Amino acid sequence: MNKKIIRPKKLRGTITPPGDKSISHRALMINAIAGQTASINGILESEDIQSTINCLRQLGVEIEMQKDGSCQVKGLGINGLKATDHDLDCGNSGTTIRLLMGLIANIDGTARLTGDNSLQSRPMERVYSLLNAMGANIFSEKSNGCAPIIVEGKQLTSNQSIEMTIASAQIKSALILAGLSSNGILEIIEPFKSRDHTERMLSAMGAKINVHDNKVTVYGDTNELQSIDIDVPSDISSAAPWIVAGILHPDAEIVIKNVCINQTRSGIIDVFVAMGAKIEIMNKRLVGNEEVADLGIYSSSLSGIQIDKELIPRAIDEIPLIALGACFANGNTKISNISELKVKESNRLTNTIEIINQFGGEVFSCEDELLINGLNSLHGAKLYCGSDHRMTMLAGIASLVSEEESELMNIDSVNVSYPNFWNDFEKLCVS
Ligand code: S3P
Repeated sequence: MNKKIIRPKKLRGTITPPGDKSISHRALMINAIAGQTASINGILESEDIQSTINCLRQLGVEIEMQKDGSCQVKGLGINGLKATDHDLDCGNSGTTIRLLMGLIANIDGTARLTGDNSLQSRPMERVYSLLNAMGANIFSEKSNGCAPIIVEGKQLTSNQSIEMTIASAQIKSALILAGLSSNGILEIIEPFKSRDHTERMLSAMGAKINVHDNKVTVYGDTNELQSIDIDVPSDISSAAPWIVAGILHPDAEIVIKNVCINQTRSGIIDVFVAMGAKIEIMNKRLVGNEEVADLGIYSSSLSGIQIDKELIPRAIDEIPLIALGACFANGNTKISNISELKVKESNRLTNTIEIINQFGGEVFSCEDELLINGLNSLHGAKLYCGSDHRMTMLAGIASLVSEEESELMNIDSVNVSYPNFWNDFEKLCVS
């Protein structure tokens, strides 16, 4: 699909972004190894989550969509997943392949995990090398550190302390999931704290797990997890396009409902508040084990800032949109320690620069830093969007706040995380 976009006179209205992608993956995978049946409400319906559902079904898990829109998962118990001769196709989803490596490291048999071209070019050794240190036998079929990945199931023994060099919730979660069925105690230490949905969900399900600052301790031989019903809140990463559109547009008042503002995810709010944005946090509440709120977003004047490295894992998927916001600030912005952006669904460091600069932005990189000159306006652009959903949404929001007409071609990659993105886009525009 292609789309012509002209900046509307106003942005007004209320949006409820789709369910949180990270929580949806975990609600499925962790309930798949629990002891009973769970109902997941508000699960994200998108290509990435469908990949997780397909893989779990291949591993023997019964998952059914109910008429009321909820999703039922019949748990098979902690050692109940079944090996399969069929490929586990993880599509475009890094969370699916990486968490599954930990989940099935002890499977009775062998499994082959693969995915699309983007996924097959992303680094996986960072996960399986640590699992192998716990006794797993997982390797890259082509010996290039990437998928296809072969898992030859082994009983794991943890009794060790793993010091991670990258702050990554995907690596941490794979280790935690493997730790559950191992013999012994596993200690995981992160350089900076990454998203903690796995830890929260497992605690609620009765797993023996302790969290202290950046350290997670998992006690193996957890015999049974209690299945729990989960209400999935809206994804802050899918709220992010509207947060940025509302702040940058000169006449905007937007309410974004039911957003998960878990501290380990809410870096985008802290960054924009520090830059001077008007963001109202309303109706704060706890849903399950997660903090949720409605957000009021208003047109704002921004000042450039320096963003500290501790904040990066708390806003990793929002950095491209933060860079777009910084183009409209007074003064310059520096975002450090962002080499992880190079290994996302695409190289988001180079793509962010390329996309924003086509709109007249002045964004540069220097080693693992992004430098953005504040300009106060961008012009229109005509561009072909690639296969990375977050880059397509970035181009959409850049078009929405630029002063001339833009034309975007090939805009369907949003289906990976936010199939209703372009409808919500139209819903907010008042011309
Ligand atoms: C995710 C963690 C992040 C994030 C990804 C989802 C998760 O990746 O970029 O979109 O659900 O755990 P890393 O853990 O590799 O930083």
